[in-house]
Amino acid sequence: MANADSEKLLLEFARLVREEACNPYSGDLKVGVDLGTANIALAVVDSKNNPVAGITYPSTVVRDGVVVDYPTATRVVKQLKAQLEQRVGRVLTYAATAIPPGISAGNTKVMTNVVESAGFTVTNVVDEPVAAASVLKIRNGAVVDVGGGTTGMSILRNGKVIFSDDQPTGGTHMTLVLAGGLGVSFAQADEIKKDPAREQEVFAMVKPVVEKMACIVDGWLQQYATKKIYLVGGASHFEQFSSVFAKQTGRQVIRSIEPLFVTPLGIAFSVRR
Ligand SMILES: Nc1ncnc2c1ncn2[C@@H]1O[C@H](COP(=O)(O)OP(=O)(O)OP(=O)(O)O)[C@@H](O)[C@H]1O
Ligand SMILES: [Mg+2]
Repeated sequence: MANADSEKLLLEFARLVREEACNPYSGDLKVGVDLGTANIALAVVDSKNNPVAGITYPSTVVRDGVVVDYPTATRVVKQLKAQLEQRVGRVLTYAATAIPPGISAGNTKVMTNVVESAGFTVTNVVDEPVAAASVLKIRNGAVVDVGGGTTGMSILRNGKVIFSDDQPTGGTHMTLVLAGGLGVSFAQADEIKKDPAREQEVFAMVKPVVEKMACIVDGWLQQYATKKIYLVGGASHFEQFSSVFAKQTGRQVIRSIEPLFVTPLGIAFSVRR
C-alpha cells in the first residue's frame, strides 16, 4: 500500500458502501461517478476529501470503456444519485467522471452526457489511473487499473502523466476462462472467482490471463525507468496477482487494499469547485 492515510480512507469508504452508511459532514460535497464495464460506482466526499457515502451497482452499459446503452446508463446513475441523496439528506450537484486511458474525445463526451443527463453538473473528467494515483498519494510510478473489461496504465512523473494506454483484457476474461474450464455459466463462474475459499484453484486457472495482462504492461513499460507498479481495480484482488506482475516486469509491484474502490474515490477527489 502506498501509505497509511490512503489505506484508512479506502477502508472507510469501503465500509460506507458495504454498510450503506453515511458519515457526518459539513460544507460542500463532491461526487465521483465511475462508469465501469462491471460496476457503476458513485463516491461522495467532503471538501477535504473525507469519504461521506458511496454506492455501486452491477453495470451492463459499458463495454471496453465505451457506453453501449445510454438510456440504461443514465437511468441507473439517476437512481444511484437519488439513493445517495436520501442517505446524505441533500441534493448532490457537482460531479466528476473518468475515462480509461487513450479513449477518443467522442466517447469522453458520451460519458459526460450520461452523468449530466442524470442531473449532475460535471466539473472535471480525469484519466482513471490518475484518479487512482490521487488516492494512493503517489506522484511517480505506473498505476495499473485492472477492471472488468480493460487493463489501463498511466505512468506518472512528478505528478504528470507521461504515458497512458488501455487494452481490452480484464476480469471478464478471467471469468470466461473459468466458465469454460469448469463447464459453468458466466454468472456462476464470476461468483466462484470471488470466493476466497477457492482462490488457489481459481488462480491456477486464470493465471494465463494475468500473465497476458502482465505481458501487456511489460510492453508498455519498456521505454521507461519506472521502478514501481501500483495495482488497482477489482480484478487485482488475488493474492498472487502481484507476484505474476513482478516476475514478468522485474519491477516492484504494490497491490492496493480494497482495489475496487480506489478509482471511484479518486474521481470524487478530482471534482472542481
Ligand atoms: N474478490 C474478487 N476477486 C476477483 N475478482 C473480483 C473480485 N471482486 C471483483 N472482481 C472482479 O473485478 C472486476 C470489476 O472490477 P472494477 O469494478 O474495477 O471494474 P470496472 O471499473 O467496472 O471495469 P473497467 O474499469 O474495465 O471498465 C470484475 O471482473 C469482477 O468480477
Ligand atoms: Mg474501472
